[in-house]
Amino acid sequence: MIDRYGRTIDYMRISVTDRCNLRCVYCVPECGVTRIPTERLLTEEELLRITRAAAKEGIAHVKVTGGEPLLRPNLAWLVQKIRGIPGIETVTLTTNGILLPDQIDALVAAGICGINISLDTLNKERYRSLTRGGELERALAGLEAAKRQKSVTVKVNAVLYETHWEEDTLTLAALAKKDPVHVRFIEHMPLGTETEERPVREDAILALLQKEYGKCESYQGKIGEGPGHYVTFPGMTGKIGFISAISHKFCSGCNRLRLTADGDLRMCLQSKEGIPLRELLRDGATDEKVQEVFRGCILQKPEGHQMTEQKIEAEGMCQIGG
Ligand code: GTP
Ligand code: 5AD
Ligand code: SF4
Repeated sequence: MIDRYGRTIDYMRISVTDRCNLRCVYCVPECGVTRIPTERLLTEEELLRITRAAAKEGIAHVKVTGGEPLLRPNLAWLVQKIRGIPGIETVTLTTNGILLPDQIDALVAAGICGINISLDTLNKERYRSLTRGGELERALAGLEAAKRQKSVTVKVNAVLYETHWEEDTLTLAALAKKDPVHVRFIEHMPLGTETEERPVREDAILALLQKEYGKCESYQGKIGEGPGHYVTFPGMTGKIGFISAISHKFCSGCNRLRLTADGDLRMCLQSKEGIPLRELLRDGATDEKVQEVFRGCILQKPEGHQMTEQKIEAEGMCQIGG
């Protein structure tokens, strides 16, 4: 699929649940969120039908997200089915890692190619505060379980704020020192959430890391299918990545669509609404009709987001799938 701006769309982020076992401050608004009623969540068969249609139209890479995707029953089975769809080349997962030790073997057997773990700090108290109650040890056990799998590319996702940012930058980056773990610093996106803390920008993090590790070099290879860009530091095994939607907007290179847990096909992270594929399927649409929807919707994909530093009234990331 090629959109009006000449971008090839081959990556779909699928939110498999809006439920989460944490309530991170940047993802879930303070007032909480309205849960999608269970009967409105896509069933496994619906999700697979949509993905098959997407693959026929050129989607080759699938990211499984949430909420927390590991809360979805039979996730490994679903991953295996998605991997088996003709045309799908990679299936990756973004998780908070808490439930990973129990599920990693099944996910690897199902053919998962990459796992991104959200980990914003290595400080116990700070982790508890950012996740509103999460236990750092459990997320670290998830990271360790992923690292043991040689067939899986492991990345850490960290959203930093001014409080604690220097310590967090240095301790998190150190995870990439001896292991092939890529550590990505993500700029806060003000969608539906407002934190009292001020976000930290890419340039500040990069400057601090260069002070510590010396001059970095831009990495031209490919790591995953997302908007991250990467640098290498002397003596570091993993790469350091940045996803900076505000200070280094990347929409001109966008390659993706999103499917919410209740079956809304969204053209952009900031799209307020999408195409209700669940209703279409439940009204008896044929596979050809679903493919036709994909072909048509691509022409509505906007040029990019309009996010600035100010909070935007929108759903939280847990509802959109990040
Ligand atoms: P891979 O590199 O292939 O693993 O993909 P990814 O980096 O997109 O995956 P992940 O789910 O870990 O997302 C990392 C961050 O990128 C999250 O904060 C997402 O919200 C953000 N992100 C992913 N896609 C987009 C996008 O299209 N626009 C914006 N603004 N942010 C995005
Ligand atoms: N801004 C930036 N990144 C966010 N994530 C969740 N909410 C936000 C936000 N408001 C990230 C999490 C997770 C990924 C899926 O999205 O860090 O790793
Ligand atoms: Fe849950 Fe992930 Fe959102 Fe945190 S960022 S509340 S772990 S969905």
